[in-house]
This record gives sequence, C-alpha cells and structure tokens, in this order.
Amino acid sequence: MIYFDNAATSWPKPPEVFESMNLFMRDLGGNPGRSGHRMATGAEAMIGECRNAVSKFFGLGDPARCVFTLNCTDALNMAMKGVIRQGDHVITTALEHNSISRPLQQMSDDGYISLTRVEPEVEQGAWTVDEIIRELKPNTSLVALTHCANVTGVINPVEALGAALRKANPKILLLVDAAQSAGIVPIHMENANIDLLAFPGHKALYAPTGTGALLIGPRVDTENFACWREGGTGGDSASPLQPHELPHRLEGGTPNTMGIAGLLAGVRFLNRLGPAKVLEHERAIVKRLIDAFEPDKRFTIYGTKDLSRKVGALSITIKDRDNPDVASILDQAFEIAVRPGLHCAPYTHKHLGTFPTGTLRLSPGYFSTLEETDAVIKALQEIAA
Ligand SMILES: Cc1ncc(COP(=O)(O)O)c(C=O)c1O
Repeated sequence: MIYFDNAATSWPKPPEVFESMNLFMRDLGGNPGRSGHRMATGAEAMIGECRNAVSKFFGLGDPARCVFTLNCTDALNMAMKGVIRQGDHVITTALEHNSISRPLQQMSDDGYISLTRVEPEVEQGAWTVDEIIRELKPNTSLVALTHCANVTGVINPVEALGAALRKANPKILLLVDAAQSAGIVPIHMENANIDLLAFPGHKALYAPTGTGALLIGPRVDTENFACWREGGTGGDSASPLQPHELPHRLEGGTPNTMGIAGLLAGVRFLNRLGPAKVLEHERAIVKRLIDAFEPDKRFTIYGTKDLSRKVGALSITIKDRDNPDVASILDQAFEIAVRPGLHCAPYTHKHLGTFPTGTLRLSPGYFSTLEETDAVIKALQEIAA
C-alpha cells in the first residue's frame, strides 16, 4: 500500500514506537499512581518521562501542566470548556476542523457565548493577524484556531498573532490547534505566547491512536479550570471533589499507558531525527506533486503553493471526476490511500469553494518516498485521462 493519508493518522509508525509499547505491555503494565508496587511505579515513571519530553519539545516550562488526552479533539474540548465562561466572546476562523467549530457553534447556539468566525479575505486558505485582531471586543476571552489547516496544509502565523494579542489585550487566551503541525513545525509555547496547545500523538508525533495532550501555559488560571472529566486520580482519594493540581485535575481515570509509551518513543524519534528533516522531506514530496499538477489544466490545487508555508498535505480536484470515486479507484486499482471529501472541515471547504463535494487530500509522511510519489502522480494522471 502507498499510504498518502498521514494527515488523518501517520502510518507506518517508527519501529521504536511499537517496540516501546510492546516492552511496556510485557514488563510494566501496571496502573500508574494507583499502587506502590514496582509495575505501577514503573508505569508512573514512564508517564513522567513522557510529560517531561513533551513539555520540553513544545517549550512548556512546567511538565505538570502537560495533560494527556485521547486525541486532539479531547484536548480542544477540554481547553474550550475549561476556560470559556458564559457571556464571553470567542474568536475562531473558517479554517477550523469540526473539533473547534462544533463545540463553539454549540455554545453559541445555546446563547452561552458570542462567536466570531473570521473568514480570511486577504489570502485564500490562510488568515492574517490583522483579520483576527480587528475582531477583538472588550469581552473577548479566547482566540481558538488552527496552526495549520488540515485541508490545505497551509501554516498560519500563530507566533505573530500571539505577540499581537498579548499587546492588544493580555487577558485574552490563545488556544492553538496543532493537530497538523505538532512534530514537524517547531512550536515553543512560551516564545510564541500560546496559552493552550492541543495536539494528537497519532499524527506527526508518530505515536499510536488514542494519544494526545493539552499543554496549559502559566497564564491560564487552573484553580477555576472547569473539569472535563472527574474521577479517580490515584492520590487524594479522600477528597470529595476533583483535586485542583495539574495534571490530576484533568486526568481522571486510568490513562492510556501503552499509548503514552508509544508517544514517548515518537517524541524521542523526532528528537533524534529533528523535525526540520521530516518537514524538508514532506516538502520535497509536495513539491513533486505540485510540479506535476500545476501545469496540467485538468488539476486544481487549493491553498498556497509556497512550500515555505506548507506541511505535507496537498488538496486537489480533477476536472469532471468525483473525489470519492477517485479515492476508491486509487485504493482498489492502485493500492494508494488518500482521503476525499470534506475532511471534517466544512467551513474550510466553503471558503475554498469546494463545498459540499470537497477535495482529494494527498498527505505524505516521513516514510513516504519519491518513487511512491511518482506512482501516485501516474495513477492520478491515468484517472484524469
Ligand atoms: C486541524 C485538526 N484539528 C483537530 C483534529 C482532530 O484530531 P483527532 O482526530 O486526534 O481528535 C484534526 C484531525 O484530523 C485536525 O486535522
């Protein structure tokens, strides 16, 4: 199989990821923080190591503020429902995945918040700092948006936005959805003025599904952070209520220890390789795709073609061809995996003019090769013909 669906979840995973999970399952499979025996304390130590590694990777000073989640959706919901209060004004954009759009739309429909969804006008597929800043109101409490749009792979200027927001009103929190960037685009929370960073482990961090994290910066009031899920935390059992200390406040229940063992290996893999190398490799593949499709009138490419502003995802359509049909033919006749349709991002497709049929998203990963890329190009040219 030629796997060009890494924006959905990365595959294959590096061998050290499943080896780490295998080892953990065999030797350390206790419940962290729940008992004092060596398997439980070993599991706890591994989780602590992963918290340290993840925090360091993303420039978060205090590893206790790294909360493990099930995926990016879990982390985003935890963040938004944790900090938003009734009557707040929240800003988001038309380039969001449903994991931001739906919770905010629901809060808005319920009359709980007022919501501004910024429609980028200056450039298709990317917002500008000014477009966000001009929407600020006295009761704006949160700006929630994606670092990198999942449909087009375009990187948005979150660092510049963080600085501008801090200057405009230091009380406003910035929540960044790093689903498509965490692992390949360098992110330093503190330097970028990001207050809440949500990401999955299973995409560009090369960890298994069922992993993710919410990193909570020092400006976020955790005393009043609403709990997303309450329950056992291992310690504080006598307390009738969820403890206030992080990460326990937000980590009720037994964590996905085996997944976290994989996440630790994924972060180590990237530390060894250097995210820049992964990004360079993905960009070389996307360049080859663009070079093949751009001059060919049968293909349309969406979003910027400037590689310096892209991760490894490219959305295209083929003239007179139906996206799900093309994906099906690629799968069945060519053994190529891609994702057609709306990519859980209906507003983005409305913005791009591709709603409701969507696009065909090609998303290579670190393990994709140029030979595979040529096979994908040849198959698509054949289908177009
Ligand atoms: C930009 C973006 N945000 C959020 C998500 C949700 O991630 P998860 O499936 O890990 O919850 C995705 C998934 O594709 C995404 O691309």
